Amino acid sequence: MDVHSAPVPPPGCPAHDSGASVPLYGPDFAADPQAYYDHLRSFGPTAPVELAPGVEATLVTDYTAALNLLRDPAFRKDARRWRDLHSGKVPEDSPVVPLLAYRPNCMFADGAEHQRLRQAVTDSMARVDSRRLAQITEQVSTYLIAQFATRGSADLMADYARQLPLFVFNELFGCPARTGDRVLVGITGMFDGVNAAESAQLLYAAVGELVALKREQPGDDVTSWLMEHEAGLTDDEMVHQLSLLLGAGAEPLRNLIGNTLHRILTHDRDAYQDVRDAVNDTLWKNPPIANYAAHYPAEDRTFAGRQVSAGRLMLVGFAAANAGMARTEGHHTGNRASLAWSAGPHACPSQRPATGITVTAVDNLLGRLPDIELAVPEQLLTWRPGPFHRALNALPVRFGAVQAAERPTAPVPPQRTTAQAGHSADQHRAGGPGKWSQFLAWLRK
Ligand code: HEM
Repeated sequence: MDVHSAPVPPPGCPAHDSGASVPLYGPDFAADPQAYYDHLRSFGPTAPVELAPGVEATLVTDYTAALNLLRDPAFRKDARRWRDLHSGKVPEDSPVVPLLAYRPNCMFADGAEHQRLRQAVTDSMARVDSRRLAQITEQVSTYLIAQFATRGSADLMADYARQLPLFVFNELFGCPARTGDRVLVGITGMFDGVNAAESAQLLYAAVGELVALKREQPGDDVTSWLMEHEAGLTDDEMVHQLSLLLGAGAEPLRNLIGNTLHRILTHDRDAYQDVRDAVNDTLWKNPPIANYAAHYPAEDRTFAGRQVSAGRLMLVGFAAANAGMARTEGHHTGNRASLAWSAGPHACPSQRPATGITVTAVDNLLGRLPDIELAVPEQLLTWRPGPFHRALNALPVRFGAVQAAERPTAPVPPQRTTAQAGHSADQHRAGGPGKWSQFLAWLRK
């Protein structure tokens, strides 16, 4: 559908009530989502969308309506209420099902159960020391830059943004390298909607191994802290909570890094006071999670002037709502928060660490390769398909190659953790050094 050439009917026009949904998948949407959001906002605060063939939803595109939905307990997160899935209308093998179907973790829980599961996450994440996190991130960042610095060119998605969260999480979650690699493959497949069911299986199997490992050998890591939390998580809950943390963390984090680098490389760098300012601008104008926060009305009701039935899938259009707000209120300098992290009881509990990792990763890269620039015209950059995320396929750059002798050197080595100790045994069984052990060897040089 070419939304530019399609006439946009005014709000209230019967065309809007015809029930025709706007598809949020395919190359046209990926190429220019803002044109789609402009069109969707013309429906009023909500619009009918199709997330994948046969998967209908209502998208909330207005900032205030989005806050109303996110803060109203009559809209539930428990996806077992999703009427179209349970009636068989939604194909079970649809690529969007793995990211929407119920799992026993905090994202799909309501009320007291949500509080119990979420508290375990927030308390465990709060134990992460921000200086240690900055140090790990800088070490990983410096290592990854060293891998391509002598080439004079790189794909910042494949060579940098995609790998960095995995390495940082390996350390934070006490994840052995082999497990961590499979976790990332699983998460990427789920978000791309490619072999989605198989990817989900891969992720859950790898995390199951991690839980078994930590029951035997607890360490100084988020996995062990979750395990010992007073919420008393069962093994099954541990697997689902951890998969959520890894999935909800690694995928948007890599895209926040990628989208921020994209923003800096395609805009006047002097327009930003510092990297944090560029991150904030990205969160407003190109948020890594564009449409999500699935909710289901507990009963038939009116919302934002329209009738919605119980169990109808409703999503929040973070990108569309942000853009509408920025248009009416101007640049992001007001008191309003960007919706990139969502809002209400399910808002992202990791905003601070995620922002910290992104700022350190981008700062270190620009500091070490100050003349870095896009290697292709901006119009040639492509974005991954799918309704939920906003993610570049690749970000090709060039820069003055750093001679081998002046390759970035490692900052202070990290303390040895259970994650690394666990990895040695794992590596021994696998019969060869993985990426994580190569990183450790580089640090010891
Ligand atoms: C360290 C990295 C991250 C971790 C561990 C993490 C973890 C989580 C968790 C556990 C939730 C569910 C909270 C609940 O249901 O109560 C969540 C929600 C969310 N996170 Fe994050 N996150 C991370 C990074 C990010 C990034 C970079 C973004 C994008 C800017 C983001 C955006 C969101 C959004 C929009 C939600 C709400 C989703 C929904 O309600 O469906 N997160 N995050």
